[in-house]
Amino acid sequence: MILITGGAGYIGSHVVKQLLEKNEDLIVLDNLSTGFQKTIDTLQNIKKFCFINLDLKEIHKVEELFKKYKINTVIHFAAFSQVGESIQNPIKYYMNNTVNTINLVRLASSHGVNKFIFSSTAAVYGEPKFKLGKNLIDEDFRTNPINPYGMSKLMSEKVIKDEAKVNCKFKYVIFRYFNVAGADIYFDDNNIQPRIGECHSPETHLIPLILKTALNKRENIAIFGDDYNTPDGTCIRDYIHVDDLADIHIKGIDYIEYNDSDTFNCGYGHGYSVKEIINSVKTLTQKNFKVLNDKRREGDPSVLVSDNNKIISKMNWKAKYDDLNIIINSAYAWEKSI
Ligand code: UFG
Repeated sequence: MILITGGAGYIGSHVVKQLLEKNEDLIVLDNLSTGFQKTIDTLQNIKKFCFINLDLKEIHKVEELFKKYKINTVIHFAAFSQVGESIQNPIKYYMNNTVNTINLVRLASSHGVNKFIFSSTAAVYGEPKFKLGKNLIDEDFRTNPINPYGMSKLMSEKVIKDEAKVNCKFKYVIFRYFNVAGADIYFDDNNIQPRIGECHSPETHLIPLILKTALNKRENIAIFGDDYNTPDGTCIRDYIHVDDLADIHIKGIDYIEYNDSDTFNCGYGHGYSVKEIINSVKTLTQKNFKVLNDKRREGDPSVLVSDNNKIISKMNWKAKYDDLNIIINSAYAWEKSI
C-alpha cells in the first residue's frame, strides 16, 4: 500500500491520478491548507481511494495509520512552497517542511516502509555559480539554499539520507524539481480538458499569472527584472510538464525496488526566458495584454536549468511533453475552467 502526503496539491494530485490509473492501493493524506477538496472529489471519480484530512503534525494519528495498514511506500509531497513567504516566516517552513518530514521518516522507517519518495526542489542549489564552460545544474552541484524554503527541503533530504544509512531496508529517491507547469493531459471530444491543474493562493508562478492576464483575471503581468545576464535580459527557467514529473514518481517506485537510493534532478535540460514565455502565451492564446517592467524579485537566480542526464540514463526516463506549446495549452485550458 502507498501512502501519499499532500495528495490534494498540484503535483501530488497528478501523481495520485497516475497511480489510480495503474490501480494502485492508496491512502492519501492532506490537511487541505493549500490543497483542495474539489481535487480529491475529481480524483475519486477516476477511481475510489482512501482520503484522510489530516495534518502531519498530528503524529499520533499518522502513527495509527502505519499500525493499521501495511504501508510499504511513502510519497511525501505535503509542504509549503512559497519562497517569499518562507523568508517572512521561516519557522512556519521549518516546522511544516522539516519537522513534519523528520517525524514521517521516523514512523516510516520504524514501520517497515522500504521506499520513501521525497519531493525536493532546485531551490536547494541557491544562486548557481558555474565553473567556466558549464551552465547546467547536475546533482553534484554544490547545494547552497538562499531562502528558508530551499533550506527546509535540504535539511529534510539530509534526514532521509542519514536514516537510510542506519536502516538498510529504508530506501529513498529524492526528486529535485525545476519549474513545474501545465495541467492534466486529458482529452474530451478531441479538446484538451484538464480535470486537475495548478491553483495557488496567492498565485506567484509565472505561467498561471500570464494566463490569468490573458483571460482578463488580472490587469497586467510584470517582468521581474530585464537586466539579467541572459540573451534578452530576463530570467531563464527549465519548465517541466506536471504529467511528466508525475510519471517520474511512478518510475521512481520501481526504480528503488532494484537500485540503490539516489537523488535526481527533474527538468528537460533546456530553458525559456520570461519574455519567451510571455510571447508564446500571446501567440498561442491570440490575446494581447499589458506587460510591465518591474524590478528584480529578491532571491531569483538568473538561470536555472537542469542537467537531466542522470535521470535519463539511470531511470530510463523519457519526457512525453517536452514542448512549451503543450505546457501552455494545457495550463490555458485549465485556467479557463477555474
Ligand atoms: N516572474 C516574473 N513575473 C511574475 C512571476 C514570475 O517575471 O509575475 C519571473 C520570476 O522572476 C522568475 C520566473 O518568472 O524569473 C519564474 O518564476 P516562478 O515564480 O514561476 O518560479 P521560480 O523560478 O521562482 O520558482 C521555482 C519553483 C520554486 C523553487 C524555485 C527555485 O517554483 O519552488 O524555482 O528558485 F523554489
